Amino acid sequence: MQSTGDTRGHWGSRLGFILAAAGSAVGLGNIWKFPYITGQHGGAAFILIYLALVFTVGIGVMLAELAIGRMSQRNPVGAFARLKGGWWVAVGYFGVAAAFLILPFYSVVGGWTIAYTVKTLTGALSVTDPTALAATFTAFAGDALEPIAWHGIFMALTVTVVLGGIGAGIERTCRILFPALLLILLALVVRALTLPGAEKGLAFYLTPDFSQIGTEMVGAALSQVFFSLGLGMGAMITYGSYLGTRDNLASAGCWVTLLDTAVALLAGLAVLPAVFAFGMNPGEGPGLSFITLPAVFARMPGGMVFGMMFFLLLVIAALTSALSLLEVVVAYLVDEWGIKRRTAAIGSGAIMFAIGVPASLSFGPLANATLFGKTVFGLLDYISVNLLLPTGGILIALFVGWVVWPRAATELTPPGRLQPRWVTAWRWLCAVVAPVVIGWILVKGL
Ligand code: PHE
Repeated sequence: MQSTGDTRGHWGSRLGFILAAAGSAVGLGNIWKFPYITGQHGGAAFILIYLALVFTVGIGVMLAELAIGRMSQRNPVGAFARLKGGWWVAVGYFGVAAAFLILPFYSVVGGWTIAYTVKTLTGALSVTDPTALAATFTAFAGDALEPIAWHGIFMALTVTVVLGGIGAGIERTCRILFPALLLILLALVVRALTLPGAEKGLAFYLTPDFSQIGTEMVGAALSQVFFSLGLGMGAMITYGSYLGTRDNLASAGCWVTLLDTAVALLAGLAVLPAVFAFGMNPGEGPGLSFITLPAVFARMPGGMVFGMMFFLLLVIAALTSALSLLEVVVAYLVDEWGIKRRTAAIGSGAIMFAIGVPASLSFGPLANATLFGKTVFGLLDYISVNLLLPTGGILIALFVGWVVWPRAATELTPPGRLQPRWVTAWRWLCAVVAPVVIGWILVKGL
């Protein structure tokens, strides 16, 4: 079946699109990573750098991807082929490859979040001693079977939703889950801020220590911006390709960026004050959600309910992001190879599940199987997040700023709806600022 623009699915409404795209952006990156990276980099100073990057490079590339997607009505590979062809098509392949590398390890962590929701309910995590919880987590993640089973369940859920297509699958799911996510998050923020001793965490979160700012921190902030907004690999190209020509891209893209940023900031507000209130260490790193927080919940009145809510929040965030990662691959297979959605979703889901198996085992039996000092999990993460996403971001920005300009400008907003200086600002961002900033950080980081 060779699909044309007409037979492709479309979002049912503008709100449906915003919820689906925000669901894609808001993920483990916001709720699991953002609080611990902020904790490791000294709090407020990191947040300021993060915000500065979101509202320049981040929003520039976000709008660039949406414009490319809607202009072409294609998956990332098809989009570059249709709009320009030649070597530019490689950018699309980068994107599909990145999705193929990210979803496997993302799904492993997604599996952990389901497991921890269940474990909180059974009381298995009602332990106040972080050392014991660290041992529980290490034993769980390193097991050769249990986390892989949860990873399989997470992947199966993702495939099931994507099978339903754009409107009836992804949009309908996100319409329910994204508002639920916001409600749970707000409840957790209120709980954290009303704990005795929360002020110390709030002070850490809100008082910038500028001495912490350095290349390493700026690099970490930029990777976080790309991962969190889901940029550089064509997820937003793909979602944008299901938009009709009448929607105002500029405002939709700004909404998605604002929602993603707000959720990251709120997640920090839900996590860090609680960690401080119980005298724990905020710089714990990746174990913050799975080791430190269970200890916090175990000491908190009503902690079991809040613990369950927190892990459910992670499950929802992870699932709505995983949908977009899988959809990038599925859209490519459907558009370019004429494969049926069903076959594409199940087949690629199965392959990505298989790639995830050694990623999961790298916390146990394969912990010593390393390449360049990184485990399978570490390598998938590093290649995709630190290399492919920023490189993709540079090329996408250059493409809009130089190759498809000025058509991209009329795509962004119907003429007259946006002041011309904003359109000019966007062009500068795409053509010069984003490539220079990302390129500089990429080179420094290597
Ligand atoms: N943005 C998601 C998160 O913050 C992850 C993601 C990356 C989703 C790339 C889509 C594309 O967890």
